[in-house]
Amino acid sequence: MKKIFLIVSIALTALIFPNFSMGELLNLSTPKTSLVLDASVGEPLKILYYGDKIKEADVDNLKVSPLLNHQAYPAYGIYPQNEAALSLTHADGNRTTVLEVTGVEKEVKDGAEITTVKMKDKFYPVEVKVNYRVRPGYDVIETWVDIVNNKENNITLNRFMSGYLPIRYGDVWLSSLYGNWGNETRLTQEPLTHGVKMIKNKDGVRNAQTSHPEVMFSLDGQPRENEGRVIGAALCYPGNYKLFIDTDASNHHHFFAGINEENSEYHLKAGETFTTPELALTYSEEGLSGASRNFHKWGRDNRLHAGDKERKILLNSWEGVYLKVNEDVMAGMMEDIAKMGGELFVMDDGWFGDKYKRNVDNSSLGDWIVDTNKLPNGIGGLLKEAKKNGISFGIWIEPEMANTISELYEKHPEYIVKADNRDIATGRGGTQIVLDMSNPAVQDIVFEVVDTLLTSYPEIDYIKWDANAPIMEHGSQYLSKDNQSHLFIDYHKGLTKTLERIRAAHPEVTIQACASGGGRASWGLLPWFDEFWTSDNTDALQRIYMQWGTSYFYPAIAMASHISASPNHQTSRRIPIKFRADVAMSGRLGLEMQPKDMNESDRAVCEQAIADYKKIRPIVQFGDLYRLQSPYDKKGVASLMYVTPDKDDAVFFWWKTETFVNQQVPRIPMAGLNPDKIYRITELNRIDRTPLPFEGKEYSGKFLISNGLEIPLTHNAPAGQNSDFASRVLRVTEVK
Ligand code: DGJ
Repeated sequence: MKKIFLIVSIALTALIFPNFSMGELLNLSTPKTSLVLDASVGEPLKILYYGDKIKEADVDNLKVSPLLNHQAYPAYGIYPQNEAALSLTHADGNRTTVLEVTGVEKEVKDGAEITTVKMKDKFYPVEVKVNYRVRPGYDVIETWVDIVNNKENNITLNRFMSGYLPIRYGDVWLSSLYGNWGNETRLTQEPLTHGVKMIKNKDGVRNAQTSHPEVMFSLDGQPRENEGRVIGAALCYPGNYKLFIDTDASNHHHFFAGINEENSEYHLKAGETFTTPELALTYSEEGLSGASRNFHKWGRDNRLHAGDKERKILLNSWEGVYLKVNEDVMAGMMEDIAKMGGELFVMDDGWFGDKYKRNVDNSSLGDWIVDTNKLPNGIGGLLKEAKKNGISFGIWIEPEMANTISELYEKHPEYIVKADNRDIATGRGGTQIVLDMSNPAVQDIVFEVVDTLLTSYPEIDYIKWDANAPIMEHGSQYLSKDNQSHLFIDYHKGLTKTLERIRAAHPEVTIQACASGGGRASWGLLPWFDEFWTSDNTDALQRIYMQWGTSYFYPAIAMASHISASPNHQTSRRIPIKFRADVAMSGRLGLEMQPKDMNESDRAVCEQAIADYKKIRPIVQFGDLYRLQSPYDKKGVASLMYVTPDKDDAVFFWWKTETFVNQQVPRIPMAGLNPDKIYRITELNRIDRTPLPFEGKEYSGKFLISNGLEIPLTHNAPAGQNSDFASRVLRVTEVK
């Protein structure tokens, strides 16, 4: 009876959803990709194909000769030597799970097609629903899982991955990101060899500071930017994660991605459901850059908060004055950035504290009250000043944190993350502690801090939301003794719940995710954040490497990139303003310095950069990225370009990464242009006394794609402006 019902509903569904193929095969297709599953009732769900869009005629053959031949969501227990996506212990202690498909459901939600394959354990009342979301027009498929305890007593989830993907064994290379504070998002590329490659995070709060939960697989040997088959995967989760690839003796590299289950076993009572975060999968035959473009387009339009809104050019006060905030200095900075053409000023750390003042970084987090010694006219006074200068105003807060030296901690020591019978483990300044976001009372406080600020001062346009500590001890004063293992997961459930409330009340404010620099560059948070601070390291040369890595998964619109002082505060390197500006302009441009410290000629270059950025902002922030020459290839030069979707306008960035006399560097062919169109070249941010030989000249897209242009290795700038650095920004505009 059940089977008849399923067949009828499948037939009906096939009429409504063109993506759906008759029989047990599910063909989930996007414009250029397909995922084919076998959802035969009574069998485990199987994955047969993931790759280039498949022709209907080839789908049926997959039953007999699949590209991939594996369970789509393998569960632990029978043949326990195999790695599994799901592992749970039933109430009676049985550690095995055996899943069979019971049906398929389809729904259209917010314009996207969601396919849910329902499975249940053959014996126990546990249901597992594997979901796939296809959004029309996007080559990304999102997958996640609901684990439902229908009526057992407590069951314990030991592993609960978001997704699993077999990748045909071969010459497969992995591209992933690693790093540390000040050196985030370094790209590493390696062949997948036998054994396990694991990428993980256990920070608790900042899950992008060291490694990243996103990877790409190049299927045709050594990775190439603009050619070759690539699978990309991005786990959309802000907490502890685990991605691993088990290359065993079978025909597959087995890729698993999800929440890091270590010390986080999760108990489900009867009637409860555990929903995993989403894993976004993409496939491209246009190399790594192609996979990046798929992620960028999907993310900007569907995941990034206000991804369709141009970002303002801002000055952030941190590297300019650090904690030495005061009314006069803030007013001066506002006046300066306004005169330079900027649109927003952000007051960073140092403005708050009543009983305890924030003069050093060891106090006052949690006490979000203006320090009237520093700011006698409060935030209202600063907003007036911003208005006078015709710019917007933003402010820094770190709402999930406190210091042991704070009124908040004095009143509510029970609000912090802390294990029983242990001393408090502290972070920054020897006093920083983390608020326990699993506690609803803490969630309320965090909501109120932000809500009060934004309701009292509705003109606040931007918030820099910082988070400068990891979870430093495994203990919640709120969670029950039995559920201490829920801390790392419930922290993020609490955080996202709070962010939901904040966004419902304040949809317009721009919010930056910052966490000791780039610790929160995460698709798991971007639904509520407009951008992230890429790194506390603003050294332009090192930024080329970090921003290159970031661009694998994140669009330029979300990547805050600021011009800072020279010598640089992190590396002490001296880099001319032109190069600093040319690097910053390839992301979301801002400034991170005291403008008063700039000499006149630097200021002029900066003003020019701001004016030029306004012209190319839509291309950088909404265009398609083509990475051309990787800095990691050590060819002495790095280059990339952004092209509008219509291919009628583009910006080409070129940066020297080292300098030698009589140096040979490759000429860089462009990409992404229309070969049949004619383009005019204009240099932006020019410092040279004479124009480039090709300034104003017209070239076919074909020529530029095949040959590129010969970029001079040095500048011919006025005295004092030549140095060992060279860079160019070229606008490539269609001649209509
Ligand atoms: C860490 C951030 O990454 C910096 O940009 C700055 O906001 C400081 N925190 C302030 O304490």
